[in-house]
Amino acid sequence: MPVNFWEKLKKRRRPILALAPLAGFADSAFRQICKKYGADVLYSEMASAAALFYTLGRLNNNKTKGKEAENKIFKNSTLKLLKFNRQHEKYYVVQLFGSNPEHFALAARIISEKIKPDGIDINFGCPIPKIVKQSAGCGLMKDLKRSHAVIEAVLANTSLPVSIKIRAKAGDINVGDFLKNISDLPLAAVMIHGRTQAQGFAGEPDWSIVKAARAYFKGVILANGGINDLAGAKKVLKASGADGLGLARGVLGRPWLFKEIKTGKQIDLKPKDIFKIAVSHAALAAKLKGRRGIIELRKHLVWYVAGLPGAAKIRERLVKVENLKDVKKILG
Ligand SMILES: Cc1cc2nc3c(=O)[nH]c(=O)nc-3n(C[C@H](O)[C@H](O)[C@H](O)COP(=O)(O)O)c2cc1C
Repeated sequence: MPVNFWEKLKKRRRPILALAPLAGFADSAFRQICKKYGADVLYSEMASAAALFYTLGRLNNNKTKGKEAENKIFKNSTLKLLKFNRQHEKYYVVQLFGSNPEHFALAARIISEKIKPDGIDINFGCPIPKIVKQSAGCGLMKDLKRSHAVIEAVLANTSLPVSIKIRAKAGDINVGDFLKNISDLPLAAVMIHGRTQAQGFAGEPDWSIVKAARAYFKGVILANGGINDLAGAKKVLKASGADGLGLARGVLGRPWLFKEIKTGKQIDLKPKDIFKIAVSHAALAAKLKGRRGIIELRKHLVWYVAGLPGAAKIRERLVKVENLKDVKKILG
């Protein structure tokens, strides 16, 4: 039986710091950098339960067996996206999105057997219309019956600890309604984005909602939304009473924020120190994904230089880098 790492982390009696899921950003290279700076939990980019369902469905229909089938499974782009380095990415949580309990059931089984992360998370908080229209993300949070069925399906198909990520409110459903509806299910953790679906990604999160969640949920509670510096982190921990924090845009180009929160001390880095971190991130991205890793890193590089003197000029060059040499030429 895998350990419930959430409980283990809670017992340490200091805030649990998580890299929140960030599609397009939180790949293995960035997760490893965040781990190095003190992140306790690393969420994957969200992965489609439907994509996993249809992959395995196809393989079951095929006559391919054994090693050949295994190779085919790992060529699947969704599973490729979820691969991780156990040694450098502890504790790793795979996040799934979707709306069909049957898809989630098979996806949970595939993830548990093939990826073997430390936990599985379900996305109830994505407000992007394309996702909501499929009754996934916030669209799923609004549908209490379906949400219950989805969580039940995941729990029945994995022995890993299962967590959820929800919003302060989706449609008419608030955190209290949602958590009361699933109070019979043994979830390990909930990350609450303190903004409503209507707020999207801007505006003030409501930390009193996160605080009130304690009455309905006995597992680990993480507060998320707009935490961009040490002072903000302290404020949120106090106002929400949460067991920890989920950091998202606040650690883009600033992974050392984890260390600041962990040590309680602000870290003032000179541009050359920041460039050094960016170059080490680039080296890791190149090692793991080759040229594609560097192309995908361009958006990270822009975050590293944001706010620095001459950022606009450097940015113009960074968005065109093709390889590690280019990155070193500009930042080395
Ligand atoms: C580029 C981007 C990608 C995101 N991808 C995901 C995702 O895959 N799954 C998820 O649950 N939330 C995702 N989020 C939401 C974040 O995890 C987080 O809840 C949100 O950004 C609020 O935190 P922040 O204000 O600290 O950024 C994403 C946010 C951004 C900006």
